[in-house]
Amino acid sequence: MSGFICDPYSRELDSDPFPVYKRLRDEYPCYWSEPGDCWMLTRYADVASAARNWEVFSSASGNMLDDIPERTGVTLGTTDPPRHDRMRALIQYAFGRQQNEYLVEPTRTMANAAIERIFDTGRIEFISDFSSPITIGALSYLLGIPQDHAETLRIHVVQILQTDPETRKKTQESLDSFQWLKEYTETLLDERRKKPTDDLLTYILQAEIDGEKLRDLEIQMTSLTLIMAGVESASSFMAMLALNLADHLDAQRRVVNDPQLMPQVIEESLRYNTSAQRFRRTATRDFELHGQTIRAGDKVLNCYGAANRDERQFPDPDTYDIDRRPKQHLGLGTGKHVCIGAPFARMIVRTAMTEFHRRIPEYHRAASHIDWIPSTTFRSPVALDLEFS
Ligand code: HEM
Repeated sequence: MSGFICDPYSRELDSDPFPVYKRLRDEYPCYWSEPGDCWMLTRYADVASAARNWEVFSSASGNMLDDIPERTGVTLGTTDPPRHDRMRALIQYAFGRQQNEYLVEPTRTMANAAIERIFDTGRIEFISDFSSPITIGALSYLLGIPQDHAETLRIHVVQILQTDPETRKKTQESLDSFQWLKEYTETLLDERRKKPTDDLLTYILQAEIDGEKLRDLEIQMTSLTLIMAGVESASSFMAMLALNLADHLDAQRRVVNDPQLMPQVIEESLRYNTSAQRFRRTATRDFELHGQTIRAGDKVLNCYGAANRDERQFPDPDTYDIDRRPKQHLGLGTGKHVCIGAPFARMIVRTAMTEFHRRIPEYHRAASHIDWIPSTTFRSPVALDLEFS
């Protein structure tokens, strides 16, 4: 293979994954990564089809390359149908009971308060000053998390996602933070057991599938997964969107002048540069693809971020074009496991960013270099410093 090696654990990959993805798509569309001990799929057609073919590409051993075993087989991202279908219907129903629209005003108020705190400085660390407290604040309405836990929660969730690129294992800090989040979730659930409220956690506690309540571990891990996914994904995605606009001033000016463009900016950002890049599946049987045999039991890394830049699907894919309206992008996945928090995430990002643009109509990167959280799944900035006048 002419010395080409792609290691999903390496920190270099996230500094600029797109040329590597292109080489994989063009030359090694079904690539065995020796250091990753996994196959990597990068062409749009293959990634979308693997995401939809849950019978062959199972999530039951985890949907992250280095998933924490305690989380596997017991929650939405880590189960297959039929159990997954039933659990999903239940959570979907719970999400649907509360219209996201009721979060618009609180999100706007939080966005304003966040901007007020830094406005006079002309600088913002976008994640800890803005996207994270707002996301967790909005999530707290949904899940009943106390708002003053926002920063602590974020620190632990970011730790959980981290893998040591040398050992290819979760760091001790990551495992400790997982333990912390488990206990934290259990405390929230205990409070709901004693005093049920109208939030999603209470609903998960009371829910029944075919007349049976969820098992204790399922309740705990489903609640934990919603907290983890909610805290990290929407906040990091909002940061990626701000980064895209800081790097594309034309698009920034257009959406500042016309907030109606925000939904298009969100969809193009989900395609172009989303934080949720690579999700794992495990083959349930041998499967032939592009002349290679994926064996039963092999890990498969389904690279949504690479599929979203495939010119076989999106013309001129490396151009950030807010007029593109890329309906079929995989920024939120597809198939049975398509993101369940998508309407919530779109609403928060649209509301918070519209408010951001109203108060801060022009902003730039304060530093050209970005450090990325060491994760095999997410490409999320550790921090995003912006400046404005
Ligand atoms: C813009 C922000 C977000 C992005 C980019 C994102 C991305 C994704 C992607 C790509 C998947 C598919 C994973 C797979 O194929 O295995 C997914 C699934 C999921 N997401 Fe999101 N997500 C976001 C926000 C959220 C929020 C706010 C929540 C919760 C409040 C959430 C909860 C979940 C859950 C529970 C799943 C698993 C669904 C299942 O397996 O049935 N996500 N997300």
